[in-house]
Amino acid sequence: MRMLVTGGAGFIGSHLVDKLIKKGHSVSVVDDISTGNLENMSKDAKLYKIKIESPKLKKVYEEIKPEIVFHLAAQSQVNRSVDNPVLDVRTNILGTLNLITLSLKHKVKKFVFSSSGGVMYGNTEIKACEDVPVNPLSPYGFSKLAGEQYIKFYSQYGLKYSILRYSNVYGPRQDPNGEAGVVAIFAKLMLKNKPCILYGFGKPIRDYVYVEDVVRANIMASQEKENEIINIGTGIPTSVKELFDLISNITGYSRSPVYKPIRGGELNKNFLDWGRAEKTLGWKPKTNLKKGFEKTINWFRKN
Ligand SMILES: NC(=O)c1ccc[n+]([C@@H]2O[C@H](COP(=O)([O-])OP(=O)(O)OC[C@H]3O[C@@H](n4cnc5c(N)ncnc54)[C@H](O)[C@@H]3O)[C@@H](O)[C@H]2O)c1
Repeated sequence: MRMLVTGGAGFIGSHLVDKLIKKGHSVSVVDDISTGNLENMSKDAKLYKIKIESPKLKKVYEEIKPEIVFHLAAQSQVNRSVDNPVLDVRTNILGTLNLITLSLKHKVKKFVFSSSGGVMYGNTEIKACEDVPVNPLSPYGFSKLAGEQYIKFYSQYGLKYSILRYSNVYGPRQDPNGEAGVVAIFAKLMLKNKPCILYGFGKPIRDYVYVEDVVRANIMASQEKENEIINIGTGIPTSVKELFDLISNITGYSRSPVYKPIRGGELNKNFLDWGRAEKTLGWKPKTNLKKGFEKTINWFRKN
């Protein structure tokens, strides 16, 4: 099938592109390479180096006539969204709207959107399911919610969608230089035997899901007929200290962690219920933390 992946040079998108190509699909990528890395992207995919909010996107749709659109391109750094909320509006709202209207016009069979459980549900005492009222607390969160709402609105006009709300995704190719992606950050620092800072004194709880499981969820969602919002996570609450210990064991790191108070805007506890993913897609997370961390560390060792 003809697949369009936005953000296909990014962390999750590049893995999705690899998998789609392996399955024999014809894959095109729209990515402005702002945070993506061309080295990650398969040479078998055709790259359109443009912004998703650009009027040039129209020509891309006319040329490739995509049957399925996986929309992953985003400005996804919370701190950056606070400093420059207009950038989020351009990329995450205008860009998403540009893709939605063109997808409708070209009768795309399925529009799969990457959203975020952490951002939508905020702090959660128990596993958050999709019916928990959403309460984004940052410009990034508002822009992702706006994307979701536009998608739901245009479903009245025939847009077929899956909105996937991920927990914290980790794996090879994640950028260790950003604010997010604590697994990549620890992996890089530990392999260089540098000190690791544990904000919130190592107590914040997250749900870490391996990138290959997220890719599988995207592909399963692209084949699903129903319009749904679906959480993609493991449901396993893991503290930053537990994460630190697991990665220390794998890397042989022996330094003590540096504890610091939690940073503004960070969540204390967030983990997701993936029951709906199992019910509607037949999806469940397959990679346990130890295995996923080993694969990730091996990649960082080689790269
Ligand atoms: N990584 C996570 O833990 C996580 C969690 C929840 C949701 N998400 C969502 O998943 C998606 C992919 O995240 P990722 O971690 O792979 O991020 P990433 O930054 O690695 O990838 C995003 C890609 O989009 C491209 N891009 C950015 N702005 C663009 C624009 N205006 N036009 C065209 N391309 C543009 C970047 O160059 C990059 O290649 C994002 O939508 C993100 O919000 C990620």
